[in-house]
Amino acid sequence: MTKQELEKLAQENLEMAYVPYSHFPVSAVLVTDDNQVFTGINIENSSYGLSNCAERTAIFKAVSEGHLHFKHLFIAGHTDEPISPCGACRQVMAEFFAPEMPITLLSDSGETKETNLSELLPYSFTEKQM
Ligand code: THU
Repeated sequence: MTKQELEKLAQENLEMAYVPYSHFPVSAVLVTDDNQVFTGINIENSSYGLSNCAERTAIFKAVSEGHLHFKHLFIAGHTDEPISPCGACRQVMAEFFAPEMPITLLSDSGETKETNLSELLPYSFTEKQM
């Protein structure tokens, strides 16, 4: 899939979000090194703290099917500015993503931000410190 198609998929996938409490859908599209595509959405729970973010849903889906190497993550939300991933998701990304792996943040306005983990979570805790 092209970058444009992956961005469109991330935006269309917002409708899959299970968000009865926040009404704030988030969508993620994760591309593996061998070009497989995993989608994720946020999945909320009546016990709010058990909710799972879209980014972690996509990562856990891919890892649970044996994929450990990734080349691009797209994140979408109905936001005016490019959506910003939460700190918990950034830490989970640090487990699997190379620091310079592209992460594209999307918005409803059409504005996008190209970033990576070295910007989103510098000096992160990884296995290298253990
Ligand atoms: N959310 C995500 O899915 N990803 C993020 O990076 C930020 C927050 C979700 C969690 C919750 O379902 C809703 O957005 C509002 O916080």
